[in-house]
This record gives sequence, structure tokens and C-alpha cells, in this order.
Amino acid sequence: MFTTNPFAELSASVPPIVLQGFALLMLGLVVVGTVMDIIHKKNVKYFFNNAKKAKKSANRELGIGEKTAIISKTIVHDIGTTSELGLGKRRLAHVLGMYGTILFWLGSAVMIFVYSSPYVSTPNVWPIIWHVGAILTCVGGYWFWFFLRVDVSAEAHSVFRLIQADLFVLALVLSSTLGLAWSYLQFSGYNGWDTFFLGLFAISNLVLFGGVYWSKFAHMFYKPGAAIQKNLAEADGSRDNLPPPADAPEEFGLGIKREQPRHY
Ligand code: HEM
Repeated sequence: MFTTNPFAELSASVPPIVLQGFALLMLGLVVVGTVMDIIHKKNVKYFFNNAKKAKKSANRELGIGEKTAIISKTIVHDIGTTSELGLGKRRLAHVLGMYGTILFWLGSAVMIFVYSSPYVSTPNVWPIIWHVGAILTCVGGYWFWFFLRVDVSAEAHSVFRLIQADLFVLALVLSSTLGLAWSYLQFSGYNGWDTFFLGLFAISNLVLFGGVYWSKFAHMFYKPGAAIQKNLAEADGSRDNLPPPADAPEEFGLGIKREQPRHY
């Protein structure tokens, strides 16, 4: 199963152009959903106005080399390891889910656009990337969903209480889960059941990519932009219009780290 391209097997009954059209539709939905989100929240407008305003209070100009170094470091460290989540389970779960999703989507794109014909053989590495990506997404996503979600871990709500904010993580883990189930059923020859799960896999993708406007999907674009801006603002002294640092060591006590927020 791990070395079988399920999209190539599917192309015996569904023409590759249909699969490619579906993948492009998903991409289109992300673009439309993100643009609608940006217009609705006005967050990008605020972001650029704030950056322009902050620039005025910069106390030094960053050279192109320095800017490149800061942006590269932000990409590798802050974004690549989601450093804002600290050094704990939350960060590990997020990193697993994030890289899992990237591998799953990359594997899907390559297998659908390059190897979805029954006449082309798929190098083993691509189905492996796709399956491993789906498994990592499930590990990180279900870990977050069952144990780390604030509503559950700090506010004692039932794991099964659903709110709109759960749309993204749920659609994400379900699409990976259903993709894995479809691949298994197809590989094991459960005819009929594999088609049923393929349908569910397609619906979960429609919800995930069609729900961008209502879900947290777009954070994967906003967060990197905000991290780069924050680090540039720190380096040029503008500090996002915050007051200058006090002339004293940065000792704030334990603060919210004093105890787990479980006061229910
Ligand atoms: C492929 C890219 C990504 C995926 C699939 C992804 C996935 C997720 C998921 C499933 C959640 C939980 C959503 C929820 O609160 O219900 C989440 C939360 C979060 N993500 Fe991402 N993410 C991605 C990229 C990023 C990036 C690049 C950053 C930061 C640079 C980031 C920062 C965060 C933060 C701070 C949270 C809140 C975590 C928490 O409450 O524990 N994410 N992400």
C-alpha cells in the first residue's frame, strides 16, 4: 500500500484530467477564500499600515544583506519550527501536523499531475511521502484535537463539543484519515467500499479548501508574514510602535507559566 499510487489506480476508471481539475479547483478555493478573508477582516491592510507607521520610528535602516539574513533565520527557525509555541507538546504536535500536511499535499500534487496515468509508473518515493505525510498529520492533528485544544485541556469541555473554530483542524485530520482509508480499501480490493471512501475523501477536501473563509486555514499564510515583520521591526528599532525597552533586565516572573490554567 505504501508504495502504491492510489491516483494512478483510480485513473483506470476516472480520467486523470478530472483529478487534475479537482486539485486545481481546490487551489482556486484557497485563493478565493483567502482573498474574501482578507477583505472581510481588513487584516492585511492593517498589517501594511502598521508596518508603514512603524518604519517611521525605526532608528536605523537595515541593509539588504541584514534583511535577507533576518528573513532566512525567521523562515528556518520561527516559521519552520513554529517557535512561537514554546518548547512543549503543543509545538511538537504542530510541527508533526504541519510537515505531515506539506508532505501529503506535495505527494498529492506530484502523483495527480505527473503520475496519474495508468501507463506511467510512479517512483516509490511519492506514494511513501503521501502516506507518511497523512500519518504525521493524523498524529499531530488528533493529538491536538483530543488532548491539547484549549477548550478541552484548560476549559474542561467535552472532546466532542464542536465549534466553528474546530472546522480547520477537523477537516484537515479527516481528509488525511479518509485518504488513508481509501488507499487501504483500494489496495486490499474492497470494491465498492473504496469508491465510498473516495467520495468521503473528496467531500472532506471540499470542506477543508472550500471552508477557508470560515476556518483558521489562512493562518498558514498570515503567521509567516507576521513573524518576518516582527523580527524586522525588532532589528530596525521600530519595535512595532511599542515603547523602548526599559533599562533593566527583562525579568517578568513566571506570569502565566506559574501554573496550568485549570480553574474549572
Ligand atoms: C502547512 C502549514 C500549517 C498547517 C497544516 C497548520 C496546522 C495547524 C492546525 C491544525 C492548528 C490547530 C488549529 C486550531 O486552533 O484549531 C494550528 C494552530 C496554530 N498554528 Fe498552524 N499550521 C500551519 C502553519 C503554521 C505556521 C507557518 C505557523 C507560524 C509561523 C503556525 C502557527 C500556529 C499557531 C500559533 C497555532 C495555535 C496553536 C495552539 O493553539 O496550540 N502554523 N495550525
